[in-house]
Amino acid sequence: MGLTAAAAVPAAGPATAAQAANPVRKDQAETALVFDPGAYTELTTGITDTAGVTHDVTYRFYKVAGYVANPVDTTYQGLNVSVPVSVDGTAVDATHAPILLANNVGGYMPSSVAGATGIGGGGAGGPGGPGGPGGGSGGPNRTLLALLAGYVVVEPGARGRTLVDSAGVYYGCAPAAIVDLKAAVRYVKSNRGRVPGNVDRIVTAGTSAGGALSALLGTSGDSPLYAAELAALGAADASDAVFASGDWCPITDLEHSDMSYEWCWGGNPLPDGTTVDATVSGELKAQFTEYLAQLRLTAPGIGRLTDRNLDEYLLRTHLEPSATAYLAALSDTDRAAYLAANPFIGWDGTNATFTWADFLTHVGARKKNAPAFDAFDLSTPECNEFGTGTTAVRHFTLYSLRHAEGDSARLDSDLPRKLDQMNAMYHVAERVNPNRARHWWIRLGTKDSDTSLTVAANLAARLRNLGDDVNIKYYWDAGHGADQDPGDFVSWIAEVTGHPAHSTHSARRP
Ligand code: DHB
Repeated sequence: MGLTAAAAVPAAGPATAAQAANPVRKDQAETALVFDPGAYTELTTGITDTAGVTHDVTYRFYKVAGYVANPVDTTYQGLNVSVPVSVDGTAVDATHAPILLANNVGGYMPSSVAGATGIGGGGAGGPGGPGGPGGGSGGPNRTLLALLAGYVVVEPGARGRTLVDSAGVYYGCAPAAIVDLKAAVRYVKSNRGRVPGNVDRIVTAGTSAGGALSALLGTSGDSPLYAAELAALGAADASDAVFASGDWCPITDLEHSDMSYEWCWGGNPLPDGTTVDATVSGELKAQFTEYLAQLRLTAPGIGRLTDRNLDEYLLRTHLEPSATAYLAALSDTDRAAYLAANPFIGWDGTNATFTWADFLTHVGARKKNAPAFDAFDLSTPECNEFGTGTTAVRHFTLYSLRHAEGDSARLDSDLPRKLDQMNAMYHVAERVNPNRARHWWIRLGTKDSDTSLTVAANLAARLRNLGDDVNIKYYWDAGHGADQDPGDFVSWIAEVTGHPAHSTHSARRP
């Protein structure tokens, strides 16, 4: 079977003035956005399961050249679909399977799947790279394991912050990435019955900036906040709500991340051994106290979370269980060696205990200076993410803006809306979106100082307070981008969707 693009779209490149003035009519748009079930290439690849056994997986690989009718840049606004057909010669029926929508965004950079010739070939990091589908683990990766389990895998591209057209206009800054990913979801949902799989069981996945976007897809389903941008792109006329969301080290809640970073890592040295500006760190930390109070989070056994008990919450709920699981899995010899090298950990044979101060010392150097996200010198990825027009970088917090421009400075008027559009927490804390996902898989390494350890914990606390089903784990001693339990994630998809994973055991080779 030859490879045919399923959607007829204009050539790649930023929208021209003519395109902007003549948006594609709705009937044309609907024709352009029809998925062609016959337009695939059949491929076979070896996928190694979590037991180390490699299976031959045959799948249909579809390239959709454009998921919107009025694209700005089809290098990024396309998606690939992989549909399993057989595993080790045993047929797999993915007609009603869950759909894993795995983005490959890293660093809020552009992410393209246009050049990929098979599953897992796109994105900023490529397979196994920091933004790639494996989340940098190097072992079995969740995207391939999902295909092996019999699920449909959709890999969308998305615009990112560094894209600039010939007139010097930045066209991938906020909210482009989330608008694109929502348009991709709408494309899939509008093709119910044509795209294989159950479009009511879309599970999103992403790491870091991609984790933030995955979380945002989960919390912001069908929010009217994106209507104008989606309409301008000619996004398919369908829901963008998703069923479940998998979020690895999500770099979300950006406008509060300088505060939370100083609350968490404020006392830790920089990699060169120097310390950050104590006044700046202290002022930001004080702001976090206020923000946390506004969130009104509660946790079982602790009650209302405040800056005075948040360390206890992190220890009891996430960090000590993380160390406990790590130590329990070691051999007696390895455990004894680890405990000898890390005497700050108490171990009673069952549970690990330690103090917050000792834990922070154990982590060591913080990765970022203060402010960590809205840097005074505008050098951070996030200052570029909130660029606009021909302005590459902007301050997006009042604190850093006023540091630069004085106490009467005001954020640019477009920023509050863009910050809300980019923030997963906005849709569940400031608002409570009834169309959010209700099942959450959240993972973070305990040594990941790309953002505060509170970001994932507060998201989880808020979702639990709303009654959602949250599976959260911190990976002990793991750094940024870790995915240590991709097989468990794939099993969890089966559990929450009620669709059993294709058994690889019966088909396992000797
Ligand atoms: C990513 C890492 C960061 O430290 C950050 O600020 C934004 C994004 C990333 O790996 O995607």
